[in-house]
Amino acid sequence: MKKCLLSVWALIVTGTQLFAQSPTVLTIKADKPTATIQPTMWGIFFEDINLGADGGIYAELVKNRSFEFNAPMMGWKEQKEGEAFGSTLVENRLEKGATNPRYIHVTANSDKGKYGLINEGFRGMGIKQGETYDFSVWTRKTDASSLTLHIELINIKGEVIGKADLTPTDKDWKKQSVSLTATATEPKAKLALWFVGTGNLDLDMISLFPKNTWKQRPNGLRADLVQLLADMKPGFLRFPGGCIVEGRELSTRYQWKKTVGEVESREMVINRWNTEFKHRPTPDYFQTFGLGFYEYFLLAEDIGAEPLPILNCGMACQFNSAEVVPMSEIDPFVQDALDLIEFANGSTDTKWGKLRADMGHPKPFNLKLLGVGNEQWGPQYLERLPLFTKAIKEKYPTIKLVNSSGTDPNGERFDYLNKNLRSMNVDIIDEHYYRAPDWFLQNAHRYDNYDRNGPKIFAGEYAAQSVATVSPDNKNNWKCALAEAAFMTGLERNADVVHMASYAPLFAHAEGWQWTPDLIWFDNLRSYGTPNYYVQKLYSVHKGTQVVPLVEKNETVAGQNGLYASSVLDKNTQELVVKIVNTSDKSQTTNVVIESAKKVGKTGKLWVLKSENLESVNSFEDPTLVSPAEQSVTLKGKQISLTLAPNSFSVVRVKLS
Ligand code: AHR
Repeated sequence: MKKCLLSVWALIVTGTQLFAQSPTVLTIKADKPTATIQPTMWGIFFEDINLGADGGIYAELVKNRSFEFNAPMMGWKEQKEGEAFGSTLVENRLEKGATNPRYIHVTANSDKGKYGLINEGFRGMGIKQGETYDFSVWTRKTDASSLTLHIELINIKGEVIGKADLTPTDKDWKKQSVSLTATATEPKAKLALWFVGTGNLDLDMISLFPKNTWKQRPNGLRADLVQLLADMKPGFLRFPGGCIVEGRELSTRYQWKKTVGEVESREMVINRWNTEFKHRPTPDYFQTFGLGFYEYFLLAEDIGAEPLPILNCGMACQFNSAEVVPMSEIDPFVQDALDLIEFANGSTDTKWGKLRADMGHPKPFNLKLLGVGNEQWGPQYLERLPLFTKAIKEKYPTIKLVNSSGTDPNGERFDYLNKNLRSMNVDIIDEHYYRAPDWFLQNAHRYDNYDRNGPKIFAGEYAAQSVATVSPDNKNNWKCALAEAAFMTGLERNADVVHMASYAPLFAHAEGWQWTPDLIWFDNLRSYGTPNYYVQKLYSVHKGTQVVPLVEKNETVAGQNGLYASSVLDKNTQELVVKIVNTSDKSQTTNVVIESAKKVGKTGKLWVLKSENLESVNSFEDPTLVSPAEQSVTLKGKQISLTLAPNSFSVVRVKLS
């Protein structure tokens, strides 16, 4: 028995020594670029899911600010103290075409107490000590009496942590504003509106924003969340989704024209994720469109990303109602696409270009990409698509169109669309894959044999699912992120075919999500990137400009000994970038040999993302548990010797001059 144990140990030791003595040799042919990497290669997919927009990146703190939710007072509660008298009536203008028909009529007498309304925010309001908050409201005095407003921020204990007063002045509707400074930090604050005096008042669009939004913009975005996006240096921003483009029915589809112009005139609709999952209902989820198409374009510009709007193609979500617009009624949908291009790029004397200028952006947004349809399938899509393509290409031949190959990366629906889209010679095919981590490992070769002369690929939505697609138990764990990192070597290696890729979904509110996993999690005050976020960021920040071959024994490295690797040149910085993913549970030594006529730097930089535990996740308590650690590496001539930790993702940058 002892002898037997000894020989097993001897085997392990010999094996370890073997590993130590014979590193895997990865050869990079740095003088032989095989493909140009598009500036759009790594980007962002944004959808208003999981409170991504309202209650998320859109910094409005008041829920149901214009009383247009199905239940008009959802989010609001009357408050009475002492013997005050007060009542609130929801009134509806019922004007034809009114986009914001409801408002409230308040009658109060505060002689013997207090009457007010309290707004609960989106799972509370995140308030920070010392920060300024801008309160605004549309009011109309309906009589000569003098109701004034006393505004308070209240913490969870009911204590006042900020206050201000505002006196309505007009008999006609008028927007008035006042600022409050918070005296304490509170993740679950509420807004109280006390009516002081005796009389009547009409109110609408009751709003509270932090002054400190991204770039301090009014009607702005949450600065911490945009910063996480900007840090990724994304090549594009896809918006507004996702299934939200389609709507459960056509009546709730995303209509970009209803999301631009004055904020108070944007017509709200129920968010499709409000009711989508019975196990994750979100009855207070609506789309106010305060974050609308203008703001999306601005966001893309701010973070240096190409805008990629996706438009409805006359089809509602095929998982839900599957309604389609008859072919005879499709013209307005096509016109929407043409008008959107005019809105983004048209001169200021065009109708839609003028609106863009009036909203504050006379310069064009320089739109180059446009998606028609989200996850469509079947002949109805192929019937509608050519009408869009023809009209758009005739008027705007340089716009590249993105078309969907459906919900899955294989199977009957995919094969049908893929074949037909290719025979239509479309510009870019949008592929989606929500699959198990193993699928990502097994598909690192997916694009190696794609047609080099056919349509380009947009890996438009992907994420490894730790349990199963749409399971509420899915986690953003290191196992999933590592599998994505391995798969992405295949996207990078095939950058001549794959022009764009984005993880999905992007955001999730910890108390208001419907779908997991998600790239970035947040609550009312905090936010963190998942391990998947750091994988995306490492790829994007180290994007490079040209692919160069990386081989082991003349083979691409896509799974041998659990290794996946790719390499790019960055001609802007004259550097070589190497990405190596070790998905095995063993440490592995590699010798990276750089074949180049150029001089190679003596030292380089190395970023390592790893965890000993594949189940590791980041969290509010430990937001950077799995995040890259930077160190330097010393080269021996044109060789880099690396010891790859088990289950790790390494990125190396060295100078080539
Ligand atoms: O990302 C979540 C959803 O997944 C998207 O809305 C849809 O396109 C896909 O089914």
